[in-house]
Amino acid sequence: MTPLLSVRDLSCRYETRDGPLWAVRDVDLDVMPGETVGLVGESGCGKSTLARCIVGLTPASGGSIRLDGEELLTRRGPSLAQRRQMQFVFQDPFASLNPRRRVEALIREPLDVHRIGTPAERTRRARELMERVGLHPDWGRRFPHEFSGGQRQRIGIARALALSPRLIICDEPVSALDVSVQAQVVNLLDALQRELGVAYLFISHDLALVEIFAQRVAVMYQGRIVEQGSSAEIWRNPSHPFTRTLIEAIPIPRVDQRSF
Ligand SMILES: Nc1ncnc2c1ncn2[C@@H]1O[C@H](COP(=O)(O)OP(=O)(O)OP(=O)(O)O)[C@@H](O)[C@H]1O
Ligand SMILES: [Mg+2]
Repeated sequence: MTPLLSVRDLSCRYETRDGPLWAVRDVDLDVMPGETVGLVGESGCGKSTLARCIVGLTPASGGSIRLDGEELLTRRGPSLAQRRQMQFVFQDPFASLNPRRRVEALIREPLDVHRIGTPAERTRRARELMERVGLHPDWGRRFPHEFSGGQRQRIGIARALALSPRLIICDEPVSALDVSVQAQVVNLLDALQRELGVAYLFISHDLALVEIFAQRVAVMYQGRIVEQGSSAEIWRNPSHPFTRTLIEAIPIPRVDQRSF
């Protein structure tokens, strides 16, 4: 089977006052259709830079990114049709949603930009999407600040789904949320995947969460992917010292600390 996303030898550097900073170095990564790949690593290791390179928000310095076998790093860059296939869900749904736009307009926006359907069809689709992510469709007239953090992340997910993408890159989508709300959002992503067959690149620094949610995990350290494998494999037999550190950092719930 052809990978949906195939990244090879990808590098990305930032020009800083102290010279070039290689945030991503020689990364190889595949995501198969309908699969969830977890990308974990400590703060500053290059996860967001890699994600931004894949969707074309940050220019790559070298390497190859293929979507369905087609190269995206051409002089022209990804086509409109290719861009539609890859959407992004951000860590901070408040910062990523325009506070002056109503929720229905925010969810419709990708359809407006890509001129999909008639205005009436777009509105109908936005309402459907709201319902699909667990928001009342009559809340479309509200503004983002009138929602809780978890609800705002649902708005971000609805917006990402509007164009029926095949890949959604979720950059720490639940890190800003309470643990109980995290589970609800992850369950929603899981249900959407079963229903729509969408693939996720799920970025997190929480290996415990990724282990539950992702079929495969890639561990990133100082710009490189140092380990890749099935979640169970990495958990059982971590080969890189940094992966071991990540596993050891996960608190083991102690019976005497539980509240009954
Ligand atoms: N626009 C930029 N200009 C210069 N350096 C940058 C820029 N963005 C990120 N960096 C640097 O690149 C490296 C990787 O940053 P990146 O944001 O990709 O890490 P991350 O793994 O997503 O971290 P976090 O878990 O904190 O979100 C860091 O050293 C960061 O300081
Ligand atoms: Mg980041």
